[in-house]
Amino acid sequence: MNTEIIKVDDLEFEVLIDSERLQHRIRELAKEISKDYKGKTPIFVGVLNGAVLFLADLIRNLTIDCEIDFIKISSYGNERISSGQITMIKDFSADLHARDVVVVEDIVDSGRSVNYLKQRIESMKPASIKFVSLLVKRNCAVVPLHIDYVGFEIENKFVIGYGLDLAQKKRNLNAIYQIKE
Ligand code: IMP
Ligand code: MG
Repeated sequence: MNTEIIKVDDLEFEVLIDSERLQHRIRELAKEISKDYKGKTPIFVGVLNGAVLFLADLIRNLTIDCEIDFIKISSYGNERISSGQITMIKDFSADLHARDVVVVEDIVDSGRSVNYLKQRIESMKPASIKFVSLLVKRNCAVVPLHIDYVGFEIENKFVIGYGLDLAQKKRNLNAIYQIKE
């Protein structure tokens, strides 16, 4: 077991999900998605920056054809608490009309980001829209939402690593680390 402690300024983080568990679960999700979209070519829309690592590993394990696109929104700024305000930083490049869209998120907390993306994508009249999130914080949603594919349900504690940042750093860790309180 990885008992390594990561220090960021005066905060301490411990391993929550190690690399092996992450990769195992991602293979399971890819298998399920490949089965559900058999014969189709969905477009996976990664939510920058956090979902980059997850999207890269997820699509490498798919057995179906796919396309990818990215969108960048910001809700957090550099704080650990969501500002609640969502700003679009980079819009979709692809035309999502009549496409099977799979939005790829790193983590769902309040659900505001997912809700915002759902409304925007629905206005483009896709053939279908589903959400996959590596992590979902339990009992945190302030808006009604449904995530079709969930990697892991976690406690309402701040996490970093595998794409997730603290003030833009620590995205490059290959495991998920949770804040020690
Ligand atoms: P929501 O809109 O509140 O659901 O927030 C989702 C976004 O906030 C995610 O896509 C992350 O970018 C960020 N976020 C939420 N919780 C955490 C966390 O524990 N660590 C790092 N980023 C987080
Ligand atoms: Mg995000």
